[in-house]
Amino acid sequence: MRVFIGYVGEHGSTRGIAERIAATLTAQGHQADVADLADARTAAPDHDACVLGSAVHNGRWMPAAAEYLRRYAPELARQPLWLFSVGLARVLGGPLERWSRNPEPLPSVRDLLAPADHHLFAGAFEREHTTWAGHVFFRALGGHYGDHRDWREIDAWATGIAHRLLPVPPTKEHHRSGCTQDHPGPLTQDR
Ligand SMILES: Cc1cc2nc3c(=O)[nH]c(=O)nc-3n(C[C@H](O)[C@H](O)[C@H](O)COP(=O)(O)O)c2cc1C
Repeated sequence: MRVFIGYVGEHGSTRGIAERIAATLTAQGHQADVADLADARTAAPDHDACVLGSAVHNGRWMPAAAEYLRRYAPELARQPLWLFSVGLARVLGGPLERWSRNPEPLPSVRDLLAPADHHLFAGAFEREHTTWAGHVFFRALGGHYGDHRDWREIDAWATGIAHRLLPVPPTKEHHRSGCTQDHPGPLTQDR
């Protein structure tokens, strides 16, 4: 299947995750096209599924990513869709825990779209990504700089998508004979 992988980020870690998802899907036999949603002028035409992600800024998806979802919701609702957020999930705790929750990309997203999953990945955060005041705040609350991306987690998530996009197993006999599927089966596209 041909999968569109769109992302919005600022410092490259979200793009890196999008590219890694694409590599995993490609290795599993799918075709994957990666694009920055800030440059997107149309909904992904000619694709069978979409994976869309954004860095989390101040508890929200970045505006270009949220705007893409809002603008192209009718088209996106017609195909299998996965969402991912990239923030400081599981890296921050205590007073910053609220800051690192997986945000709704849009307040009304559940009315507009029914994604198969919305996963929160840990991203990267370096000293030069914030102001002096932000630095003081971040460190005072126990935040740690660095690249916290978990590539095994990312690969596992992408592999799950790849399996769900596989063609339907050949016959009903296959199920009756007691063969176990190693994936939950393809998504229906007529939601
Ligand atoms: C201005 C700014 C605001 C941020 N706000 C949040 C936030 O509210 N919650 C969070 O979990 N991470 C936050 N982060 C961390 C980023 O989401 C994280 O570093 C992510 O990996 C950045 O992706 P990028 O490298 O693609 O820009 C923020 C980072 C910046 C620079």
